[in-house]
Amino acid sequence: MPTVWLDDHASFGEWRDKARQLLLAGYPPDTIHWLGPGATAGLLEDGGRQLYLPPVGATAATVPPGYIDLAEAAICHADGERFALLYRLLWRLQEDRGLLGARSDPDVQRLERMAAAVRRDAHKMKAFVRFKSVVDPTGRERFAAWFEPEHHILERVAPFFARRFTGMNWAIVTPSRTVFWDGSDLTYGPGGQRSDVPADDALEDTWRTYFSSIFNPARLKVQAMKSEMPVRYWRNLPEARLIPTLIESASRKVREMIHHPATEPPVRHQRQVRRQAEATAEAESEITSLAAARAAIQGCRRCPLFEFATQAVFGEGPKSAEVMFVGEQPGDQEDLAGKPFVGPAGKVFDAALEKSGIDRRRTYVTNAVKHFKFVPRGKRRLHQKPNGGEIAACRFWLDLEREFVKPKLVVALGATAVQSLLGRAATISSLRGKPLELDDGTLFLATIHPSYLLRIREREGRMREERAFEADLAVIREIMDGGYRVA
Ligand code: URA
Repeated sequence: MPTVWLDDHASFGEWRDKARQLLLAGYPPDTIHWLGPGATAGLLEDGGRQLYLPPVGATAATVPPGYIDLAEAAICHADGERFALLYRLLWRLQEDRGLLGARSDPDVQRLERMAAAVRRDAHKMKAFVRFKSVVDPTGRERFAAWFEPEHHILERVAPFFARRFTGMNWAIVTPSRTVFWDGSDLTYGPGGQRSDVPADDALEDTWRTYFSSIFNPARLKVQAMKSEMPVRYWRNLPEARLIPTLIESASRKVREMIHHPATEPPVRHQRQVRRQAEATAEAESEITSLAAARAAIQGCRRCPLFEFATQAVFGEGPKSAEVMFVGEQPGDQEDLAGKPFVGPAGKVFDAALEKSGIDRRRTYVTNAVKHFKFVPRGKRRLHQKPNGGEIAACRFWLDLEREFVKPKLVVALGATAVQSLLGRAATISSLRGKPLELDDGTLFLATIHPSYLLRIREREGRMREERAFEADLAVIREIMDGGYRVA
């Protein structure tokens, strides 16, 4: 039986070109072998005789929607049968356009299982890759990570890391291939070994501190935890070393939590975050302007949120602004755009400002926390509230913004901003409508976060809250116009 050899493990384009040629030449699926790189043809009767076919144009085969998506994922599967399965389905789809809807068909089931396994593996890689910091001989900081995927997913997932860590030079080493990012291009090289990546660095402490602070023993179910963080990845994760100790102390901790509900992050965590922040602050003491702070924040490692966000989102607005609005943290759209309040909450904010006669371009708009905190859910990234440690760590940047902009008034939009600006938690209802004077003489006002309005379903309640928000903005407008005095 003739053999089709493929040069790449997971190139859908290469497989598709060959499949088109075969289809046009009329080769039924059971008349050919497919072999990927590194495969041995030893057991084949003819030793894997290469099949040569003339190239064909792009219109040789048509497929229903859905097939390409599934096939692009399934081609990355480690199962050597994947190429043949995809061709068999392609062949059958020419006769039966509705085949993919036949859920009980063994080929369709296998395709779906393979695609799902690849997507799971890709998801794990996005979640569990941990970069280590490496200083190269020229003194430049680079990052390297070791990862062992189950399937051939490196090319599929690498663009995700390029988008997330655009500003860094990094490499991800796997047993079969290595991908490099130099800030503009992804390139691939041979695979490596775990020992190619440094075993320890300062980032690991950050991860361990972070993980132990978010570890919630009350939710501990070893089984559930394993599925969230499968054992095979534990070796790569600095925080995983804590797991046995944390599990051991979990039942004691649960009892303690029941008797002493925690309202503050653990003291040990606060201390470590503070120590780390102090060390970073020393390096950052060079920052002498708003522009320098804007540039420096992209290297911020004060808390682990930088690992997952696309970029830090610094404030925006004129240096001469008299009013500074402080939100919580960038959302999904802000994270991608690199600008604060441009997503759904930003639209509500803009509309309310306009209604109140406040020109956003005359104000400085920023957030208490500069990196987007989220959990991935399928293709979506769900917002997570920043914790006390993250708010405290990011206060450094907000303080710099306040120092360089020197606004007459800072407005906290929501509870996170209140906690950052006052250094303590307080409800909006207890502060609302009562401007305070901060230690440095700046006026402080608290109001709701605009996203609160998006969450109110009931029309009347929402309109009431909109009016209250506009009343707060009217006070701000008065302060901007110079007509308001603190009693
Ligand atoms: N929510 C915020 O708090 N800030 C933003 O920038 C966007 C949404």
